[in-house]
Amino acid sequence: MKKRIGILTGGGDCPGLNAVIRAATRSAILQHGWDVVGIEDGYQGLYERRVTPLTINEVRGIITRGGTVIGSSNRANPFKYPVRMPDGTEEVRDVSKEIMASIRDLGLDAIIAIGGDGTMLMSQGLVELGAKIVGVPKTIDNDLRATDVTFGFQTAVEIATEAIDRLHTTAESHDRIILCEVMGRYAGWIALHAGVASGAHVILIPEMPYKLERIVDFIKARKTAGKSYSIVVVAEGALPASGDHAVAIKGDETMQDRLGGAADRLARELVKPFGEHDVRVTVLGHVQRGGTPCAFDRVLATRFGAHAVTMVAEDKIGHVASLRGTTITSAPIKEACAKLKLVDPSGPIASAARQIGIELGA
Ligand code: F6P
Repeated sequence: MKKRIGILTGGGDCPGLNAVIRAATRSAILQHGWDVVGIEDGYQGLYERRVTPLTINEVRGIITRGGTVIGSSNRANPFKYPVRMPDGTEEVRDVSKEIMASIRDLGLDAIIAIGGDGTMLMSQGLVELGAKIVGVPKTIDNDLRATDVTFGFQTAVEIATEAIDRLHTTAESHDRIILCEVMGRYAGWIALHAGVASGAHVILIPEMPYKLERIVDFIKARKTAGKSYSIVVVAEGALPASGDHAVAIKGDETMQDRLGGAADRLARELVKPFGEHDVRVTVLGHVQRGGTPCAFDRVLATRFGAHAVTMVAEDKIGHVASLRGTTITSAPIKEACAKLKLVDPSGPIASAARQIGIELGA
């Protein structure tokens, strides 16, 4: 039977989203002759019934493009939806029934939802109401249990690595301590990989709350040994052993806390022993998420997109595409939104870092 499928992207953007959209569209059309539409701005577009046709022409050339050609939304949760009231205020409502009606009225036989843990949680809720949704896990943070690696992560690591490489030469020229804050939310994958790849001296990750004295002693020992500069990679979720995450903006029921300020906080502490002339902070921010995906992410995203269509064809509703080793398989959506996949402090990369003398602060 000819199907009509919708594709949506939810949550923060991530390099490789367009590669998934392209692969899913091409595979649905070329292998099955299905109609494909893009649902604009994630679940917001589904609520507002905004869809756009996706054809082979529409997806031509987008494999190299960052972002998402169909838009995304961070706050459009069908179960906690911020509805704008006539007086301009917002009311948080459960609009899942309206969304189920949109799916029916738009004639969507299935939806491919590309997103992180938040989007997967919402999708699972809709699956339980009868929606036919399959997922594709996405996040630069690489913190989803359902897959060994998410697309977007490798690109973010490449960007962060190049930036930290550049910080080395300027830090060395001026005998400075430069702290570089990278994204990753509550997981230290980007910090650990980019820190190791760029030869950072100190790497701080949320999974290993740091002791300030260790970092100070380590940098002092470097100075004593004649190494006058230090590079400290700080995951945005890094926290002192006696403290908490640095939160830039407190979240609410429609939005998570926005992290930020971990490197600034540590820099203030390092100024005390080392002086303010010698300490600088660089926050990489959204540059890690923008721009063209690296080849690895393009390939992984293409495999995920093609597999998502196979999952629809095989009626694997409520599952997400997953990479296990080198094989693409399917895992229950529930797994993708269960506990986060965090760095194991005694796992292989942290152990190698310790073994070669990188200070991990804990
Ligand atoms: O989850 C991806 C991510 O980039 C995190 O690393 C970061 O904490 C967050 O999103 C930033 O979100 P926003 O785009 O809302 O600022």
